[in-house]
Amino acid sequence: MTEPNAPLPSASAAPTRLPRLLHGGDYNPEQWPEAVRDEDIALMTAANVNVATLPVFGWVSLQPSEDTFTFEWLDAVLNRMADSGIYACLATATASIPAWMDQKYPDILCTDASGVRRRHGGRHTFCPTSPDFRRLSTDLARRIAERYRDHPALLLWHVGNEYGGNATSGRCFCARCAAAFRTWLQEKYGDLETLNARWYLAFWGHTLTHWEQVEPPYANGESQTHQAQRLDWSRFQSDTLLECFKAEATVLREITPSIPITTNLMGAFLPLNYHAWAKEMDVVSWDNYPGPHDPPSFVAFSHALMRGLKEGQPFLLMEQSPSQQNWQAYNWLKAPGLLRLQSFQAVAQGAESVMYFQWRRGRGGIEKLHGAVVEHPGRHDTRVFREVSELGADLARLGDATLGGRVSARAALLFDWEAWWALSYSSGPSTDLQYVQECRAFYAALYGLGIQTEIVAPDADLSRFDLIVAPVLSLIESRTAAAIEQRVENGATFLATFFTGLVDNNDLVHAGGAPGPLTKTLGLWVEETDALPKNKTNALRFERQLGGIEAGRTFPSRLLCDRVRLEAAQMVAAYTDDFYAGEPALTVNTLGQGRAYYLATRPEDDALTAILAALCAERGIGSPLGGGTPPPAGVEVSGRVSPGGSPLLYLLNHSLSSVNVALPPGTYTDLLTGETLAEIASLEPRGVRILTL
Ligand code: GLA
Ligand code: ZN
Repeated sequence: MTEPNAPLPSASAAPTRLPRLLHGGDYNPEQWPEAVRDEDIALMTAANVNVATLPVFGWVSLQPSEDTFTFEWLDAVLNRMADSGIYACLATATASIPAWMDQKYPDILCTDASGVRRRHGGRHTFCPTSPDFRRLSTDLARRIAERYRDHPALLLWHVGNEYGGNATSGRCFCARCAAAFRTWLQEKYGDLETLNARWYLAFWGHTLTHWEQVEPPYANGESQTHQAQRLDWSRFQSDTLLECFKAEATVLREITPSIPITTNLMGAFLPLNYHAWAKEMDVVSWDNYPGPHDPPSFVAFSHALMRGLKEGQPFLLMEQSPSQQNWQAYNWLKAPGLLRLQSFQAVAQGAESVMYFQWRRGRGGIEKLHGAVVEHPGRHDTRVFREVSELGADLARLGDATLGGRVSARAALLFDWEAWWALSYSSGPSTDLQYVQECRAFYAALYGLGIQTEIVAPDADLSRFDLIVAPVLSLIESRTAAAIEQRVENGATFLATFFTGLVDNNDLVHAGGAPGPLTKTLGLWVEETDALPKNKTNALRFERQLGGIEAGRTFPSRLLCDRVRLEAAQMVAAYTDDFYAGEPALTVNTLGQGRAYYLATRPEDDALTAILAALCAERGIGSPLGGGTPPPAGVEVSGRVSPGGSPLLYLLNHSLSSVNVALPPGTYTDLLTGETLAEIASLEPRGVRILTL
């Protein structure tokens, strides 16, 4: 990495094309003496690192008091980085507020759900409506941007850090936030009568008679009983925190319009509606910390969710641990080869960076046992350092061949933060009904079949998808339902599940009950929903053939059983048990050129796969391996198309045995090894291939 920095992206709005795959991570030089900082740069070069994110927690080191600024140390670090061809993902350094600030402006600190103001400590502890926080954070962002606008190391802006990521952050219940919430509601609803109606406050006699009575859902108040209130509070919090991001981003955009702006997201993270956030970001980035038992499909789901935030555009993997995390119950090591595999999984799913938390393991504090590229011995002859350097060499070998590649998915899975909020706050129908878990299960079935799937917001443009899967979309707006109906009429296959279409965006049950505005599309109505306790099952018996599923096949089912009443829809499978045996458990409705299926209960995962395989076959949707061939078990396949139009085929072996994958016709080059392949691609345990035709 001694070559000079490649030219920065062009000055067009929202530049997202990076000059090359990035490799590096969070760097906290303020924790280390000068001699160590010098050594860091040499070690980064040895590790084939070309980017460092800093100084995420550097506020107090840059501004030790309100009128004192000490940027010289950062100048020196950035200069050395630039000299060594290492880019800066430059942080606005506002993630941790200095103690002097808390002392001088006590109400900059957030207040918890019981109304108790936090004391100094932790991080991300600011009140999102604090004018002092806004003023001081944007002032720091401005000074950093002005100072480094022309610095050769500057590649990317990193605003804040993991917004909402700590128990208290962004969840401020102070009097000022409560007042801001009231104003937000007044703007949304206009008058109190409408608020009373939309929040259904006649329930339990909670009708409000004056705006001053409107409160956030305090832990010792209205926190559980009124879902509409919690929904609006969630929206308000997500929006308000986003305002903090936008305030800093606006300053950066004004000073450096050609430098892309990001903040690190966290995958399926309940508090923030990332669909709204992504609209304000030039490039999505996120932090991937899978647990030891998370299946690869689970991680792929998160990548796809993050990729889908910007309609399939490439994203950045901002953080992952090179070895272990300090915050798991057991701080497991990533076995040899696993870091490489997980990193290429990110790249296969659309990441254009492989980055770590963090560069060097700290000596103290809560993260002293968190993995890092340079571990406590401070040496480069360690297993982790070697694996990281080799991975960096692999990424460098790819050059720009994979940059800008897009997944060409014909299948979409609808994911909605508002539906997630609504389901999380709902009392019933079953404590086992978990929104993300269900979305992951449907995604995993498609993933196992090798089907490229985009995860998109329900209000995304659905016209490019031929299969649309909507697991447990209990909250649905009429215009979303209308867009789905239209897409079905024009020839798509739609699959909805139990507990879909029940409520509107105020968590009010649609007139006529579920599936509300999807009633016509699905051709049925839901009479009742049975929630099965953990050890109770029902089953669906196919009354007719569906793709590869023969009539007569029976699959156990669990969780929920909707009792549906057919209008235009027809029965495909029936329940086998209970007083509703013989009633429809899977139905299909033909509408225009398309079909809408309703899965009224939750089959086990293998049956989900069989059903989705049938639906894909119906629309001729296959894996990038061609035809209806699913990849061998444990193999992840991802197809992308480079901006120049060349297909890229990523093969990842998540299993611990060698596997052969049958390739579609053609002669391929493995971009990692330079090998030429035809017919068969052999994959070692944890092996990776990136093939181009
Ligand atoms: C998050 C944060 C980092 C660090 C890591 C540790 O991702 O952004 O600052 O705390 O967790 O896993
Ligand atoms: Zn507040």
